[in-house]
Amino acid sequence: MKHITIKGATIPALGLGTFQLPDDTAREITAAALSAGYRHIDTAQIYQNESGVGTAIKNSGIARDQIFLTTKVFRESLYTKDFMPSVEESLRKLKTNYVDLLLIHWPNRNVPVAEYMDQLMEAQRKGYTKHIGVSNHPTALLDEVLATGADIITNQVEYHPLINQTKLYTYLREHGISLTAYSPIAQGQVLGNETLKGIAEKYGKNEVQVSLRWLIQQEGVMAIPRTSKAERLKDNLNIFDFELTAEEVAQIDQLKQQNKRVVNPPFAPDWDIV
Ligand SMILES: NC(=O)c1ccc[n+]([C@@H]2O[C@H](COP(=O)([O-])OP(=O)(O)OC[C@H]3O[C@@H](n4cnc5c(N)ncnc54)[C@H](OP(=O)(O)O)[C@@H]3O)[C@@H](O)[C@H]2O)c1
Repeated sequence: MKHITIKGATIPALGLGTFQLPDDTAREITAAALSAGYRHIDTAQIYQNESGVGTAIKNSGIARDQIFLTTKVFRESLYTKDFMPSVEESLRKLKTNYVDLLLIHWPNRNVPVAEYMDQLMEAQRKGYTKHIGVSNHPTALLDEVLATGADIITNQVEYHPLINQTKLYTYLREHGISLTAYSPIAQGQVLGNETLKGIAEKYGKNEVQVSLRWLIQQEGVMAIPRTSKAERLKDNLNIFDFELTAEEVAQIDQLKQQNKRVVNPPFAPDWDIV
């Protein structure tokens, strides 16, 4: 396993995503993932599966400090009056007194960035989280985030071979902030891609594994693929025994010309145009 080291945090570059997993499934898959060697789990209050994730972690017998656990505050809870109760509820459900990373899940046009960043930093001071970060923040909003003085370690955004995130990635590198790639296999849309397939065959891998490898080979990038199937957990983790050549990376880099975004809800911010 490769680890990302950033501002005092050491984070496994490959984690487990849990979006759209019902509570029971999240419990079973998190338990199976921990058995398979995953030590980085991503959930969110809005996923309504923090309880299952927390139960699996508690029952795993693995020391809490050996697992990097992320949760997120949803956009409707960013107001000062709602923020801390949301975090406290997450911790209760997760059955832990801290998370490793607390993220602002989505920005909210009705709540000033300074207001929610103030609450995020306060949650860190209270010990509710070791590290802080944001998600779904384009560069214009990141400017506002950094203006608050917040020491964020990541921006969790959609990133896979089919989307162009050049502007955002460059910004994050310039500011020493990691990028956590969500929907890292484009919710399955990398399957069947001929370029990825061709490269995969050479290594005895598949399109999913090549996509994940392409991500984690980049400086400061982590990926959190989700699966509801225990047998796929090992496949998605099995990406550390091969290395893409510079030529293969360049071939995959061409795919971003499609600029395909798979997560784009009506409340999304104005994304960076590249
Ligand atoms: N911050 C945000 O706003 C945000 C937004 C989206 C996602 N996320 C996070 O990122 C995580 C991952 O993103 P995602 O869930 O959107 O999509 P994803 O990980 O790109 O794709 C998940 C889909 O791929 C399939 N899959 C997984 N492994 C596979 C394999 N080895 N072979 C074939 N198919 C495979 C899964 O189906 P099966 O279940 O059938 O395996 C599922 O349908 C989420 O779970 C969540 O934790 C965050």
